[in-house]
Amino acid sequence: MHKKAASLALGLVFSSWLLTAAAAPGPVLPVGAVQAVSIQGQQLRLRTEHAQVEITPYSPTVLRVRIARQALGPDHSYAVVAKPQAAGASISQDAQEIVIRTSGYTARIARQPFAVAVYSPDGKLINRDEPGLGSSWIGEEVATYKSLQEGERFLGLGEKGGSLDRRGSAYSNWNTDAFRYTNETDPLYATIPFYIGVHHGLAYGLFFDNSYRSDFNFGASNRRFASFSAQGGEMDYYLITDPDVAGILRSYTWLTGRMPLPPLWSLGYQQNRYSYMSETDVMRVAHTLREKRIPADGITLDIHYMDQYKVFTWDRQRFPDPAGMAQRLAALGLKLTVIVDPGVKQESGYASFERGLAKDVYVKYPDGSPYSGEVWPGWCFFPDFTAAKGRAWWANEVGAYARAGVAGLWNDMNEISTWGQAMPNNLLFDFDGQPTTHRQARNVYALNMTRASYEGMKAATGQRPFLLTRSGFAGTQRYSALWTGDNTASDSHMLLGVRLLNSLGLSGLAFTGMDIGGFIGSPSQGLYARWMQLGAFTPYFRNHSGYDTKAAEPWTFGEDVLNNVRSYINLRYRLLPYLYAAFHEASSSGLPVMRSLAIDYTHDAHVYARDFENQYLFGPSLLVAPFESTARFGKLYLPAGAWYDFYTDAAHAGGREQLLELAPTRLPVFVKAGAIIPMQSQIQSTAEQPAPTLVLHLYRGEQASSFRYYEDDGSSFAYEQGGYYARSIGMDPARRQISFGAVEGRYDSRFTRVELVLHGFGAAPRLQRDGQELAVTAGSAAMLGEDQPERAAVARVVIDHPRTAFSITY
Ligand code: GLC
Repeated sequence: MHKKAASLALGLVFSSWLLTAAAAPGPVLPVGAVQAVSIQGQQLRLRTEHAQVEITPYSPTVLRVRIARQALGPDHSYAVVAKPQAAGASISQDAQEIVIRTSGYTARIARQPFAVAVYSPDGKLINRDEPGLGSSWIGEEVATYKSLQEGERFLGLGEKGGSLDRRGSAYSNWNTDAFRYTNETDPLYATIPFYIGVHHGLAYGLFFDNSYRSDFNFGASNRRFASFSAQGGEMDYYLITDPDVAGILRSYTWLTGRMPLPPLWSLGYQQNRYSYMSETDVMRVAHTLREKRIPADGITLDIHYMDQYKVFTWDRQRFPDPAGMAQRLAALGLKLTVIVDPGVKQESGYASFERGLAKDVYVKYPDGSPYSGEVWPGWCFFPDFTAAKGRAWWANEVGAYARAGVAGLWNDMNEISTWGQAMPNNLLFDFDGQPTTHRQARNVYALNMTRASYEGMKAATGQRPFLLTRSGFAGTQRYSALWTGDNTASDSHMLLGVRLLNSLGLSGLAFTGMDIGGFIGSPSQGLYARWMQLGAFTPYFRNHSGYDTKAAEPWTFGEDVLNNVRSYINLRYRLLPYLYAAFHEASSSGLPVMRSLAIDYTHDAHVYARDFENQYLFGPSLLVAPFESTARFGKLYLPAGAWYDFYTDAAHAGGREQLLELAPTRLPVFVKAGAIIPMQSQIQSTAEQPAPTLVLHLYRGEQASSFRYYEDDGSSFAYEQGGYYARSIGMDPARRQISFGAVEGRYDSRFTRVELVLHGFGAAPRLQRDGQELAVTAGSAAMLGEDQPERAAVARVVIDHPRTAFSITY
C-alpha cells in the first residue's frame, strides 16, 4: 500500500476507535464529565455525560450525594428521618470545579470528570473519590470508590465479625439467618451500611442509604480504594465530617433517628430458654429466681407458647390463662416478653391469618398469587411490612398481646428466614407506594416489622414498648433493641459477641445484646460464669439457650457459680441509676451504652491491637476488659489518664500495657479517674423501690469531670413533656469542688438523700457545704457486694439534695 494511504487508513482506524470510545464506553460506565450545573438554594444539580447528580449540604457537618443514571427517583428512605437543615453553605464555581463551603467542611466537586473531595475547614483532606474510578455502574450495580488514605482505619458497619479495624476486609449486606455463624461468617442478620473512617487525626462517617444487597471493600485485595456498591437503586450517600467519633455518631443518629428511652424493666436481667414449655415451667423459674434471691425483671417465652407456632395464638393446654400468668409474674416483679415470627401459618379458620387475607396484607408474586414459604408453623404467608396496610394489620394483632399483659415483643426470623433460605427475588413489595421487589425490600423488612410492632404496642398500652429484633437496618434503633442471634457456647464466641455489640454501638444501635451463655451447645462452668459477669456489662442482659442444650438458669451450674453470677446480677441492679443515665445519653445524643475504646480514644493505635480491641467502656467511665474464661493472664491496655481497679481502688496509670492476673470470679473492670457513678441499694426487680438514699461514688481525678444524672418514672412518655429529673454533677480539682447543678424537669427524684462515697480522697477528707463542716466517716466499700473479700478504702458522707444548685468543697 502507498505510504500516505496507509497512514490515512491508520488515522481512520484510530479516529473511529476514539469515536467508539465516546459512544460506547465499555462495561464499566463512569459518571463522566459535568455538562450542566444548576444551583437551587443550597442544592446543586448536575448533569454529567452519563448521570444526574444532586448534592445537598444537609447540615453544616453533613453532605449528601445522590447519583442516578436517568432522572433521580422520588426521595424515599426507611433509614433517614432528618430533613436537611440550613447548612449556611456558600457555593462558588469556576472552570475546574464547584466549591461548597460550610462551617464544617469544604466540598470540591471536580468537573472533568465528576469527582467529590471533602476537606476540613482548615484544608485537610478528609475523603475523596479515587481519581480515575469515582462512581460508576456495571449494569444495574452502582459503586463509589474512595481513595484509601495512608494509615486509614475503618470502624462500624454494624453487625459484622472480624476485627474492630476493618481495613483490608470486605463485607456484604443481605440480611441472613446465620445459624451457627463464626467470626468469618458474612453477611449476618442485620444491615447497617454505615462506617467511620479514621486517618491523620481526622475522622468522618459515611452512610450509604441503599437497601439493595450491598458490598463494602475497605482495601481488601487492593491498596487503592475503599468502595461501596449496591446491586440496584441510586448512589445515595451522606458524608459526616464531625471531628470526633462521638460527634459523628450524634450526626448519624440525627439522620437515622435515636433510640427512644426504653422502659426501665428492660434494663434488668431477663431469663429465657428455647423454650419454657408451660405455665408451670415459667412459674417454677419465676419462683426459683425469687427464692434464690437472683434479681430479675423478665421472663421471655419462645415459640412453644403458641398453638403449633401460630403467631398471635396461645397453646391453651400448656398456657391456659396467659393474662392470669402475666399477673402472677407481675406479682413477682417480672414482665413477660413473647416471641413473634413474621410467617403466618396458611390455615383456614385461623383468625389472624384470615384477617390478614381479608386486608390483603401478604407478599405476592407478580402474577398476584401470595408467596408461601416454610418456617416453624409449616407453610406460611408473610405480611408486607413495607405497606401501610400490612403494618396496620400487624399493629392491631399485636394489641391482643398487650391486652393479655405482655410487655415485650421479641421479633425473630425477620431477615426473612424460611427453610431453604432463598426467597425468590420476584416477590413484590409495596415500599410505601413505590412498588419494588424482594431485592430492594429484604434488608428493610425487619425494620418495618419492628416499626409495626412498636406502633401496635404503643397504641395498646400508652407505655414505652420494649422490642427485641434479630434482623434490622440503619434506623432500627428507633424501634427496637437488637440481639446477635444464634451464637455458640464458646470463649471465642463470647468475645466475638463483644466485638459485634461494640460495632453495633459504633453504628447507631445503643440497645443490644447477645445470648448470654451461648445458644448452640452448652458452656462450661467457667465460661458460663465469665459470660454472665460480662452480660451484666452489656445493654440487654438476657440468658438464652437452644432447644437441645443443658438448662442454663443461674442455679444450674452449681453453688459456686450461682454465688458468683448472683453477685454480678446484684451489681447490675445497684448500678441501674448509672446505667439508666447512660441509656438516656444514648437516646439524646446517639452515644452508645457499650462504647468501643475507638470512640473516646480514636487516634490511639493501641485500642485497635488484637490484644486490646475487645475492651470497651460501659457507660462513660467503667472500662471492661473481656478475656477467655480459661485465660489465667491477660494483656490489658488502659488509655491515657488515671484508673482505679473497680474492686480494690488500686491505682493504675493509663497510656501503657500491662499484664493482668485473672481470677475466674472477677471480670476485670476499671474506673476512670474523675468518674461519678450513681448507684442504689439492692433490689430484686425494678418493680421494687430502692432505699431512698442514692449512693454517689466519686473517684478523684486530676481533670475536671461531670456526669448528667437522669431519672424519670421509667415507663411512661411523660418525660417527653418535662416529667423527668436531671441535673449535672461535677468535680473540679482546681477549685476543690463537687457541684450539683439545679434540677431540670418536673419529676421528683425517688431518692431523698445522697450518700457521697469518696474514692481516692483519703480516709478523712474535710468537706464543707455553705461554710459548714460535714460529718465524714472513714470506711470501706465492696463494690461487688458483701461477698467480696477485697475492700476499697473510702470516705462517706450523707447529704440532702435540694433542687437548687449547691456545692461542696474539699
Ligand atoms: C431462632 C432464634 C432463637 C430462638 C429460636 C426458636 O433460632 O434466633 O433465639 O430460640 O429461633 O424460636
